[in-house]
Amino acid sequence: MNFIKVENYEQLSEQAAKIIADVVINKPDCVLGLATGSSPVGTYKKLIEWNNQGKVDFSKVMSINLDEYEGLDGEHDQSYRYFMNDNLFNHINIDKANTFVPNGKATDIDAECKAYDERIYDVGIDIQLLGIGLDGHIGFNEPDEFFTKETHKVVLDESTIVANARFFESIDDVPKTAITMGMGGIMSAKKVLLIANGQSKKDIIEKAFFGPITPKVPASILQLHNDVTVIFSEK
Ligand code: GLP
Repeated sequence: MNFIKVENYEQLSEQAAKIIADVVINKPDCVLGLATGSSPVGTYKKLIEWNNQGKVDFSKVMSINLDEYEGLDGEHDQSYRYFMNDNLFNHINIDKANTFVPNGKATDIDAECKAYDERIYDVGIDIQLLGIGLDGHIGFNEPDEFFTKETHKVVLDESTIVANARFFESIDDVPKTAITMGMGGIMSAKKVLLIANGQSKKDIIEKAFFGPITPKVPASILQLHNDVTVIFSEK
């Protein structure tokens, strides 16, 4: 594991964006596994800047996102599809037809999950960007008795609902379920890049990367991946 400690969020964003840009420059038709949450916003800003300056070209890139709330369609401003359009896709030259986010409004969730995995294994993710929840979740893989391999439906932990309530008008508006890529999809990525910042994430980063590998700390499974970079800033 490559553990990089940086001074602040700006440095974190710049370093993370550099790692992603390198993948895109070396393989213009690469597949990016992307994440939502506040952590990657700065990284996406950098990628937008470099795309607008003509330094990184996303025209042949495919993206596959980690997760989506169940019941929200892509027009909903708290859906992860909306987040991705708003924070990245609308501002770079990616072909939106090549961007994939689970369909939170799918009538047959099992079929949606199966098709999502088929795409992941068919194309292969070159680099998977991840944030981390306060309970150690990656994507929406919450602490459990076991790791789930497949893309699947999850019931969100109370702590995740509380943490994500800041983006909704009221806590009651936060969906209670979601669709997430499973650990199989995440671990199948050639490279994994996890970013986290702030004092509140310090403990969980310690547990996930320097503690035992356990489904009670979902991100700890990444210790078994052979190409993981973690960028952490206490500020
Ligand atoms: C959400 C997302 C995760 C994300 C996590 C942390 O629950 N499903 O993919 O990593 O929040 O978010 P933040 O980066 O805002 O702390």
